[in-house]
Amino acid sequence: PVLVVDFGAQYAQLIARRVREARVYSEVVPHTMGVQDVLAKQPRAIILSGGPSSVYAEGAPRLDPALLEAGIPVLGLCYGFQSMAAALDGTVAPTGVREYGATRLEALDGGSELLRDQDLEQNVWMSHGDSVTEAPAGFRVVARSQGSPVAAFEHPEKHLYGVQWHPEVGHSDRGQEVLENFLHRGAGIEPTWTTGNVIEEQVERIRAQVGEGTAICGLSGGVDSAVAAALVQRAIGDRLTCVYVDHGLMRQDESAQIEKAFGESTGGARLVMVDAEEQFLSALAGVTDPEEKRKIIGREFIRSFEGAQAEILREQGVIQGDHAEAKTFLVQGTLYPDVVESGGGEGAANIKSHHNVGGLPEDLSFELVEPLRALFKDEVRAVGSELGLPDEIVWRQPFPGPGLGIRIIGEVTKERLDVLRKADAIARAELTAAGLDRDIWQCPVVLLADVRSVGVQGDGRTYGHPVVLRPVTSDDAMTADWAKVPFEVLSRISTRITNEVSEINRVTLDITSKPPGTIEWE
Ligand code: XMP
Repeated sequence: PVLVVDFGAQYAQLIARRVREARVYSEVVPHTMGVQDVLAKQPRAIILSGGPSSVYAEGAPRLDPALLEAGIPVLGLCYGFQSMAAALDGTVAPTGVREYGATRLEALDGGSELLRDQDLEQNVWMSHGDSVTEAPAGFRVVARSQGSPVAAFEHPEKHLYGVQWHPEVGHSDRGQEVLENFLHRGAGIEPTWTTGNVIEEQVERIRAQVGEGTAICGLSGGVDSAVAAALVQRAIGDRLTCVYVDHGLMRQDESAQIEKAFGESTGGARLVMVDAEEQFLSALAGVTDPEEKRKIIGREFIRSFEGAQAEILREQGVIQGDHAEAKTFLVQGTLYPDVVESGGGEGAANIKSHHNVGGLPEDLSFELVEPLRALFKDEVRAVGSELGLPDEIVWRQPFPGPGLGIRIIGEVTKERLDVLRKADAIARAELTAAGLDRDIWQCPVVLLADVRSVGVQGDGRTYGHPVVLRPVTSDDAMTADWAKVPFEVLSRISTRITNEVSEINRVTLDITSKPPGTIEWE
């Protein structure tokens, strides 16, 4: 693989993803990983990410020069670039000119490998206070900007390269080409990786991990768990059983649809349906704190999987004693954004505990199998298509595992769920009728269950609850914008909800991007 060494960047996975877009396989490793361990992964090339520190600050992550002497091609970006300069006895200093955002870049050397075939001037995205003022001995300076006397350097014979800017972000004009020049020319890696390779690699990995064991896969009806199940089914065949837990927090008619669509999406694995509505609702009774709800739901999911597992073993005639030694595997369709938001990135903050990551109980008896953990949703969709899953599943809009439980602000009760289910069904039907399903990433409908407002309907006073429509556009759920749904469609949704759902007398629209909002309200 190409390893992206994460120095605490916001965008380390984005770099890995851009590398995969260049059709080269890539993974992220933390900067705390020792050089020996990094080399043991036999990387074809290494990319050093940006990071929030100043190279000379106390406690700043250091780059071990040994990594630059192993003969492996290295590209440093931003902090990674500065740490290369510092490790090789170049000079990094505050020049007094900080550069943030779009910056004019001037290429200096016609023979540059990184900037090959590019214009002499271009816009790049910068975000730094310190600058490299002197390149290490033997390096060619190939670009500069107003605040960066050395904005890029290279040493083609040693296969070492660095740029001050962020080629991985869309705002850098020719950023992707810089990465490709490094990968394809500087490091000489052929662009041969495809989503088909993910399938082969993961199937192999799953076989190695599960061995002769058996696995159950928590199926939610969404694309992530369906793709994860299909991969595991390929790897271990009928030693996989899928378990669908109906926690009572699903949308209208959803459980029945999922049962119906199941066969096509997993290559014929076995399905066990678990009715756990009472279990979840009683565990959630009286709870209003969002993180507490998420943890309870995560825990109850696991308890349901354990119950299902015991049932499966009983059916297969395995008595508990026999099985005590054997490991059982739980397959989850965890994606990279679930991991970072749950605080799983090196030094990343916990924004919310996704039910399948931060919401897992500590006494987890399963070993997890998570073949999609390094991928973004659009990559998972590509893998799903490649596996031959139907479009209906591959293009299904995301729906969170904790379901409507995190879309009722306040306590979750059966009555409130029924109210929200009606409103949500109307909004979804109208968005679908307007042909907006592929334009919109998803549209949560949120019930403000503890808020009431006065209205008038018929000739009488009402004192009902508001719902919030939260239509968003996004590529990967890491960032999002509110979707500009046509007024006529919003108007139809509003009229229908207030007419057809008697408990609701107001419909509002959330016009916040992410950041600062998140997509879900809890
Ligand atoms: P946020 O609210 O964090 O959501 O902007 C990002 C995406 O993740 C979905 N989401 C979840 N999915 N388990 C899931 O399977 C969860 O606990 C969870 N929380 C949020 C959300 O619907 C959006 O697509």
